[in-house]
Amino acid sequence: MDVTFFAGNRAKLKELEPTALIVVAGNDEVQRRADAAFAFVQEANFYYLTGVNEPGWKLVLTPDEEFLIGPERSDAQTLFDGSLAHEEVTRTSGVTTVVSLKEGEARLKELASVHKKVLTILEHPYQSHFGFAPNPGPYANIRKLKKMFEELGDVRTTVTRMRAIKQPEELAMIRRAIHASIAGFSRVRAELVGYDNERKIEATLWYEFLQMADGHAYDPIVASGANACTLHYTANAAKLEDGSLVLIDAGAQVGEYAADITRTYAYGASTDRQKAVHAAVETAHQKIIALLRPGLEIKTYSDQVDEILKGALKSVGLYEKPSDYRRYFPHAISHGLGIDVHDSLGGFKEFQPGMVLTVEPGIYIPEEGIGVRIEDDILITEDSHENLSAALPTLL
Ligand code: GLY
Ligand code: MN
Ligand code: MN
Repeated sequence: MDVTFFAGNRAKLKELEPTALIVVAGNDEVQRRADAAFAFVQEANFYYLTGVNEPGWKLVLTPDEEFLIGPERSDAQTLFDGSLAHEEVTRTSGVTTVVSLKEGEARLKELASVHKKVLTILEHPYQSHFGFAPNPGPYANIRKLKKMFEELGDVRTTVTRMRAIKQPEELAMIRRAIHASIAGFSRVRAELVGYDNERKIEATLWYEFLQMADGHAYDPIVASGANACTLHYTANAAKLEDGSLVLIDAGAQVGEYAADITRTYAYGASTDRQKAVHAAVETAHQKIIALLRPGLEIKTYSDQVDEILKGALKSVGLYEKPSDYRRYFPHAISHGLGIDVHDSLGGFKEFQPGMVLTVEPGIYIPEEGIGVRIEDDILITEDSHENLSAALPTLL
């Protein structure tokens, strides 16, 4: 991604928040075990505004200036892990003033004497539901700002609204991630009879996604038989049983951008029941994609999706009472796609040109050991939509 992209994003944010002081922190490295850290992943909003892909950085935007605050690093850390030279940070981000942690803190103190209020990315609205600890970078930043300023505001809404409408260079990254994902799925589909375990499918996806992209955008799901009914199944280690279905939900990452695709394939001969459930999902999938156009209210879309999916369940004898709907289709139909695999749609009431979202209907019947989902990535265009992953057949 070019420096003009990140500089442009900051310019746009300043235009939307002209009088605000904004401090956005990047992620920190997180301990994996003993002296080892997990592979570093940058905080999405910080990446979008700076392009800096290293731990421990902060961006400060005031009405008249911008600067980046670097992390404090010991000589030993620099020796083992390298350190991002300030010139390189400027080249990547376009931010010309890069200061040390000490100078940054002094500058923030000065700013606190002029600004009562500071905007930052506050805690994720669903953090308490996640069941995992927040990244310490943004978390420590919030605590520090609370001590320094009288009032904290959230800039998340403004930034996610910007991020919801993809720019041409972002679409190019997403298209490349989808292209690599399609290559991985196609190879798995062609070689499926030769696999004996979910793990080998995951291994092929890793191989293709590392050859053609930057790896997986999220932990892939390779779930055969009843495992497909566990929505967040990522063990991917069961033996493949003849006559089962295999649900594969995976997406490559290119740059910091994700694809998110699901196909359900037959391993060996499939039963009439498996075929009927797959066909019901496939038909619903096409009907739902056909709804998408700019200006369509998201609430209306959601109501229409409910009717289509209830019809799909009825067609395979699974809908008798209203509670059957959520019983056999217990997740959301769509989410935004971008830097985060679950990107926000920015709080818009209607679909907008430039949005990218998934469409992912499914039917899950644990009592029959059948789980089917089909997921594609859709761009809302000026007058309709484009299915970016349409080149990958949805067949069983
Ligand atoms: N891969 C996660 C999802 O489909 O939302
Ligand atoms: Mn998915
Ligand atoms: Mn998805």
